[in-house]
Amino acid sequence: MVTVKKKIGIVASGSGSNAEAIMEACRSGILRGLAEVGVLLCNKRGALCLERAKKFNVPGILVESDGFKGTREDFDRSLVKEMKVRNVDIVCFAGYMRLVSPYFLQQYAGRVMNIHPALLPSFQGMHAHKDALAYGVKVSGCTVHFVDEKTDHGPIIIQKAVPVYDDDTEETLGSRVLKYEYKIYPQAIKWFAEGKLEIKDRIVKIKNGEDKTLVLE
Ligand code: GRF
Repeated sequence: MVTVKKKIGIVASGSGSNAEAIMEACRSGILRGLAEVGVLLCNKRGALCLERAKKFNVPGILVESDGFKGTREDFDRSLVKEMKVRNVDIVCFAGYMRLVSPYFLQQYAGRVMNIHPALLPSFQGMHAHKDALAYGVKVSGCTVHFVDEKTDHGPIIIQKAVPVYDDDTEETLGSRVLKYEYKIYPQAIKWFAEGKLEIKDRIVKIKNGEDKTLVLE
């Protein structure tokens, strides 16, 4: 039987190291044969994520938000257009620093994921590590969730906890967490591609009781 690979559309604003982890997982990791990245859209001119896309022969497209004249929906229409022509099945925000319009979410209902560098619902927003350190938590981590109309809020797919140490800085905590972001994002996409994710209200379940070693190890 020939498996039809799921097409991923990545949307990023910056470095794109999560984007790279996803592209690598498609090329030679857990997403191989299951999914491929059809396009990487970026809203920031000169962002490193566009260079990373090139390395993987993934079309990298700049849809610049600075100086964009229309509404948020107009902007999102440009993104959606680029994804539709490439038959994108699932949208992965990877360090995408903009709010998304209801129009966007309607076009890809239940098919937009995001990664956040904290254990949601704690420390939503742009400064998760700074906020976690200032609060004094002893454990932080990362979360992959479906995107809804509120920031860092939608149904949680997978989380990984990491320790916070007394001498941590935003940088040391950030890099400890990132290592796991690179693991849990491809895992969440894999479950999606295999049709294993079930959402009821805001509870996500993984069909067939998939083991949770990644979360607990
Ligand atoms: C990651 O920490 C991600 O969780 C957050 O923004 C950061 C993006 O890093 N949303 P990168 O662009 O993937 O390197």
